Amino acid sequence: MLLFSTDIDGTIYDGPDSARTFSDFWNGLRSRPSPPLLAYNTGRSIDDTLRLISETHLPSPDYLIGGVGTEILHPETGQLLEDWTATLRSGWDVAKVESLVADEAEEIEQQPEECQNPFKSSWFWHGKTRQDIDRLQERLDRGGLEAQVVYSSARDLDVLPLKANKGNAIAWLAESLGVDLDRVAVAGDSGNDASMFLVDDVYGIIVSNAESSLPAAVSGARIFHSARPCVEGVIEGLTRLLVS
Ligand code: GLC
Ligand code: MG
Repeated sequence: MLLFSTDIDGTIYDGPDSARTFSDFWNGLRSRPSPPLLAYNTGRSIDDTLRLISETHLPSPDYLIGGVGTEILHPETGQLLEDWTATLRSGWDVAKVESLVADEAEEIEQQPEECQNPFKSSWFWHGKTRQDIDRLQERLDRGGLEAQVVYSSARDLDVLPLKANKGNAIAWLAESLGVDLDRVAVAGDSGNDASMFLVDDVYGIIVSNAESSLPAAVSGARIFHSARPCVEGVIEGLTRLLVS
C-alpha cells in the first residue's frame, strides 16, 4: 500500500479514544522504511476537518480531501490543488442545481452555510429510498444539469459536479502522484464512501457499523468486510493487507 484514503466519521473516528488508537497505528506505519501516504477523504469541509485534527489525536494527513471530493488540500504547504477544482467547473451551475432541488424535492431542508461550497450543494432529506434518489437524479439529468446525487445516512443529500465525489478525487490524486490504483487502500462506512470502493483495483475496507446499503452498492472482489466497528475494523483490514 502506497496511499490510504479513509473517511473519518464512523470509519476511523467516533470519539477521542478512536483518534488515539488510529494515531498509534498510523505512526507505527510511518516509522517503516517506505511509509504510505495518508489522505483523509471526508464529507466535512477542509476547515472543519482541520479543526477536528487540531482538537484530537488524529494524525496530520499528507492530503485532505474535503466536501465529498470537491476540494483537495496539501496541508504541508497549505495549498488547495487548484487543478482538481478546475476539472469540476465544466457543466456545473450551483444556482440552477439549488433551485431545481428546492422545486423537485419535498420536505427538504438546506444544510447550514458552512456545509456548502461552490461545488457542493448539501441538504437534509430524511428517510429517502433508492427510488427517491434515482428520481431526483433523473430530474437533474432531464434539466441538463451535469450533477450527481450522493445520499448518506438516510439523511444527507449532496449534489456535486459529475466529476467530483470521493472516488474520483482519490483516483485523480493517485494519478497525479504516480501511484497505481492497486497500491491504494480505501475505507468507509456510509453512502458518500461508495464511490471510493468503485475505483477499479483499489483494496477496500468496510467497517461493521457501515450503513446497510453500502456493501450492497459496492460488492467487489477486493473488499474486506470487517466484523469489527470503526477504527478497529480499519486496523484489522490494513493489517491483513500489509501481511498479505
Ligand atoms: C458531512 C458533511 C455534510 C454531508 C455529509 C454526507 O456530514 O458535513 O455536508 O452532507 O457529510 O456527505
Ligand atoms: Mg462516515
